Amino acid sequence: SGTLEGANAQRGLWSSRLAFILAATGSAVGLGNIWKFPYVTGENGGGAFVLVYLLCIAIIGIPIMMAEVMIGRRGGHSPVNSIRLIARQDGLNPAWKLVGAVGVLAGFLILSFYSVIGGWAISYVGTTASGQLTGQTADAVGEIFSGLLSNPGTLLLWHTLFMAMVMLVVARGVRSGLERAVSILMPALFVLLLVVVGYSMTTGHFGQAAAFLFQPDFSKLTTSGVLVALGHAFFTLSLGMAVMMAYGSYLPKKISIAKTSITVSVIDTGVALLAGLAIFPIVFANGLEPGAGPGLIFQTLPLAFGQMPMGSLFGTLFFVLLIFAAWTSGISLLEPIVEWLEEQKGLNRSISTLGAGIVCWALGIASILSLNLWADVAPLSFIPKLEGKTIFDLLDFFTANILLPLGGLLVAVMAGWIMSRPAMEKELALSPGLFNLWFVTVRFITPVAVGIVFIYNLI
Ligand code: PFF
Ligand code: NA
Repeated sequence: SGTLEGANAQRGLWSSRLAFILAATGSAVGLGNIWKFPYVTGENGGGAFVLVYLLCIAIIGIPIMMAEVMIGRRGGHSPVNSIRLIARQDGLNPAWKLVGAVGVLAGFLILSFYSVIGGWAISYVGTTASGQLTGQTADAVGEIFSGLLSNPGTLLLWHTLFMAMVMLVVARGVRSGLERAVSILMPALFVLLLVVVGYSMTTGHFGQAAAFLFQPDFSKLTTSGVLVALGHAFFTLSLGMAVMMAYGSYLPKKISIAKTSITVSVIDTGVALLAGLAIFPIVFANGLEPGAGPGLIFQTLPLAFGQMPMGSLFGTLFFVLLIFAAWTSGISLLEPIVEWLEEQKGLNRSISTLGAGIVCWALGIASILSLNLWADVAPLSFIPKLEGKTIFDLLDFFTANILLPLGGLLVAVMAGWIMSRPAMEKELALSPGLFNLWFVTVRFITPVAVGIVFIYNLI
């Protein structure tokens, strides 16, 4: 499959709009929604941060997703080859295929720590199923979590299992079963989140949580909070690393790119907000710290599962579904690297997967050690903004807040300033008014917004 022809022969189109939505939703909905959204919201003071995040989804995320899907569908190949083809047709510099390279690097770095957190979720299946959470106090639940973090061997075991699950699917190249499973398991995850929200309503702190999430207090919003909100919008929608471009190449021509992009974004945002509504009442009811950091869901959800009727069952199911959501996202993180190795280096799929997976796994060990033995190692502390950040924090910061917005910026500039406008009009097939709205957004609003946030955070 190293040649365009070879790639062409292998490509089937998604059978329907639904199939694309399932794959894209599988990539988008993951740890970003349930693990990351609540804790970054807590760390950044709530409402105002959520508002900026929602604005970023609406005016940056959705237009960029449309641009990525459009480029992918028009090119009809892997991101790098799609851009190469479009470059030839529209007379642009083939160096634009760098967008694909940004994606490969970002996917690699993100997956290394994403897999470690996926490992936490795996570990919590056992914790919940064993019934040891029943009736526990916040302190006891906190101790279970710090016990996990303090044990590099256990973390490594679950990280290894998660990476192996991802590699298995990518190596075999068969994803259709998983995509169909998305249509059952994602709604199930949604329902279980609703169950936790239902429990959270009984804590007497639901109103406080809703106010925390939806009443903006701009005095709590910092410039770095705005950067985190922007970065998280990219991270949660799987944007800025050409994943949606790759998936878009399989989308049949007759399907509306705008409608599908909006659908995926709304589902993703819905899951994140629901996770927030599930978790913050538990935070306030137990006097926990909203800014507790990456452990937030593992210190709150177990309390709910320990107290609600049939909590062990619901909790076990919940973490199984969370693993599944993380799995489908992890696959979409490894896929671009493997595709790139196949195309650019001429390696076969198994070797590419094994090589990329093992290097990624090894890098994950640095994130594991950041949680215990290297907890005080903050290699870039001489930069004020990065002071005290562990290797794990730095990987998260550099990918979500720098690399992905940068990838998105490149996509916006390519669509807004470089590509043939008639070709884009044809691909998007929007009314002239809506097309212009999108075009003005990617041409001006996205680059200016990303530019301003970057510049403010540099000075
Ligand atoms: N969107 C995923 C999540 O929210 O968990 C994470 C992710 C997947 C980011 C794939 C980027 C990506 F390309
Ligand atoms: Na997401």
